Amino acid sequence: MNDALGSLFEGRLFSGELAGLGLSLALLLALAVSVPTKARGLLRQPIGMLVLYGVVRALMLAAQGLAGFLEPVALLLLLGSSGRAGVLLALDVVLGRRLARPLPRIFRDLVQALVYVAVGIATLRAVGVEPGSLLTTSALLTAVIGLSLQETLGNMFAGLAIQVQRPFEVGDWIQWDAEPKNIGKVTEINWRATKVVTLDHVEIIVPNGTLSKAPIRNYTKPTSESRRSVYVTAPYELPPTRVHELIIRALAETPGVCETPAPTVVTNAFLDAGVEYWVRFFLTDMDRRDRIDSAARDRIYFALRRLGVSIPFPNRTVWLHQVSEESRAQAKETAIVDRERSLARVDLFAVLSAEDRRTLAEMTSQRAYTKGEIVVRQGDDDGDLFLIEEGEVSVILDRPGTDRDVEIARLGPGKFFGEMALMTGDRRSATVKALTDCELIAVGRDAFQRILERSPGIAERVSEVLADRRAEFDRIAEETEVIPSSKAQRTSELLGRIKKLFSLR
Ligand code: CMP
Repeated sequence: MNDALGSLFEGRLFSGELAGLGLSLALLLALAVSVPTKARGLLRQPIGMLVLYGVVRALMLAAQGLAGFLEPVALLLLLGSSGRAGVLLALDVVLGRRLARPLPRIFRDLVQALVYVAVGIATLRAVGVEPGSLLTTSALLTAVIGLSLQETLGNMFAGLAIQVQRPFEVGDWIQWDAEPKNIGKVTEINWRATKVVTLDHVEIIVPNGTLSKAPIRNYTKPTSESRRSVYVTAPYELPPTRVHELIIRALAETPGVCETPAPTVVTNAFLDAGVEYWVRFFLTDMDRRDRIDSAARDRIYFALRRLGVSIPFPNRTVWLHQVSEESRAQAKETAIVDRERSLARVDLFAVLSAEDRRTLAEMTSQRAYTKGEIVVRQGDDDGDLFLIEEGEVSVILDRPGTDRDVEIARLGPGKFFGEMALMTGDRRSATVKALTDCELIAVGRDAFQRILERSPGIAERVSEVLADRRAEFDRIAEETEVIPSSKAQRTSELLGRIKKLFSLR
């Protein structure tokens, strides 16, 4: 090398340099034939350095006096060109073809930086300067370099940690602080920073050091689906279960909303404007999330409109008029007439005169239950009879000690239940649960007593139904003690008990 330098100082092209030039050209040629046409831009840097090398060389020939000063520059450019071409060939061509996905940018940058450092050291050595001595002889220089590199090195190691641990990758959607605007798609992770493009199509360059300290929310991992929340208010008049169904159906056809995991609805709050529903659904296209949220709201709006309901706005109704005795009586009368009509539809009360039905309607009350609610619980000692106006209930036998309950029957509009406890004074024989939203009429013991006094024939009809049901009940409940008896026996036995309870002759 020293010989070569000697000849260089005399302004001649020495053999080592010739070999370097040959190597550089060979590497460039290999690179040119192996990189795809669209990546040809990569060649620009090493070729540029080689051209500059030629210019410096020409200058050296023209101005011999400058040769001493220009020689290291020429050497640096020549080695730099070979180094850059070699790195590109090794990483992009040889390694790049073997790896399933592109090599992380940070590794490419680091390898390139190391090669340039090696080129710098080789050049310094070639001109007789020992690079190590530069650092050791100047403590001040070392301190300055150390301090200024502190932040950079921190970012670089954080970048390496990101590459190794992979809390996120290029293509993932991340949020790195509480600011909702700071959410975006990772487009590049380099040795200093990570580039993220937000929904506003703004590129944010976040230093790796910041990311390594932040709690990162990755919307793409562990699964590509992430949950969205939309809040909808519907009027109080609409039963929540109905609104839930309607929203789920509306979302099922909304483009961009995932089928699985399925959307869900939660009755969230009772507000001035109406009942607030929290609608949760999943999506995978984070870049379209605002438009998908909007489409979901649109679908819900139109589904409500088709029902003749509009989304309520906050309102407060201030009743300034005095409720007159007359209007109050009218409201009460309407409710009684409604109940009278429902009672007429129940087989059991078909025998009642209009007058008795009216009396019964006056003494009963209306009750609403939602799907899944328990109306009557097995073993309780309450004693109302329920008539079903709307909806369906399930009669269930709870079997203590077993985890399998048995459904005995399903009852719909026009049917009644709860007669056993009411008529016999026994505890509830089974649990009755609403299968859908239900409107029921509750008949208390006093009301029933009045009706039986007026129309004792009802007791017989009830005991018949009751005996039938009891027989069915006993048949199903194998483990309960059944005293085998004929239907006639059972009916008269029950009738006796009923008459006694209601003091009938
Ligand atoms: P009660 O015992 O007061 O409460 C539970 C109710 O379930 C019961 O009255 C009946 O009304 C009802 N029930 C019990 N067995 C049957 C059956 N086999 N078919 C229909 N309803 C029943």
